[in-house]
Amino acid sequence: MEIRGAHALITGASAGIGLEFAKQLHQAGASVTLVARRVAAIQAQCDQFNALRVGSARAVGADLTARADMQKVIEYIRGQRIDILVNNAGRGSFGYFEELDIEDEISEIELNVSATLRLAHAVIPQMKARRMGAIISLSSVAGFQPIPYMATYCATKAFNFFHSMALRHELKEFGVRVLTVCPGPTETEFSGVARVPGQPTGARRDSVEAVVSESLRALRANKPFVVTGLRSKLMVWGSRLTPKEISTWLTKKMLASSLKSKKQ
Ligand SMILES: NC(=O)c1ccc[n+]([C@@H]2O[C@H](COP(=O)([O-])OP(=O)(O)OC[C@H]3O[C@@H](n4cnc5c(N)ncnc54)[C@H](OP(=O)(O)O)[C@@H]3O)[C@@H](O)[C@H]2O)c1
Repeated sequence: MEIRGAHALITGASAGIGLEFAKQLHQAGASVTLVARRVAAIQAQCDQFNALRVGSARAVGADLTARADMQKVIEYIRGQRIDILVNNAGRGSFGYFEELDIEDEISEIELNVSATLRLAHAVIPQMKARRMGAIISLSSVAGFQPIPYMATYCATKAFNFFHSMALRHELKEFGVRVLTVCPGPTETEFSGVARVPGQPTGARRDSVEAVVSESLRALRANKPFVVTGLRSKLMVWGSRLTPKEISTWLTKKMLASSLKSKKQ
């Protein structure tokens, strides 16, 4: 997979893992389009990229849960050659399911699931026609494990994993790669947005630099999926070896103190 000279569109590129994808792809010689709601942040980042005179960078401000904005991004995709789609924008929520705002939960599904489907659906025809391209889809270690108090989030990440792994095999003979990325706890704005108090796993978080560089190595090696970082790999192995009822009970125990501090 040649990144130099490719055009990558990255969603959720104003912060965290998406911003780091934009930086590393641009550094590897790709032109980049950054998509997020915070237009000023992505425009400032694009200005920095463009000042380097390597590839080009464009900002597309969009709320991917808003129909009109999504249509704007789809039309943008149809009018461009997109070689790499990084379906990264996503968020979580934390608490007893029935106490969370139901519209917010549905909107989380719209962002993590529906928006990623719409963007992949829009980009695949041109990739298939050129017999090249790559879709990088952000799942999570949460996609392997039911997580009490994050029930909606882990279900969306399981959806991302299954959908992307299935797409990979649909697209294999058309020269299009699909990589599913499964990070563990990573140092980003995620926990603040999801309102998870403290560090629920008690573990140090991975850096976005490490998560993204391991992901791009996996893309180059055409791996089907990558669980980034040693601790996350151990987490996934552990949850695969343990009966789901037991691992779900253990996960609940781990998150119980975070739930208590949220309530206080
Ligand atoms: N951090 C972790 O521990 C972790 C672990 C595993 C998987 N992940 C996954 O990694 C991905 C990125 O998460 P992150 O940790 O980097 O989160 P983050 O720091 O909170 O960044 C989320 C990004 O998504 C964008 N976004 C949020 N809502 C949006 C909307 N409605 N429309 C358009 N863009 C929107 C945000 O930009 P604006 O606010 O500017 O719109 C931001 O750029 C997610 O899919 C997440 O599930 C994260």
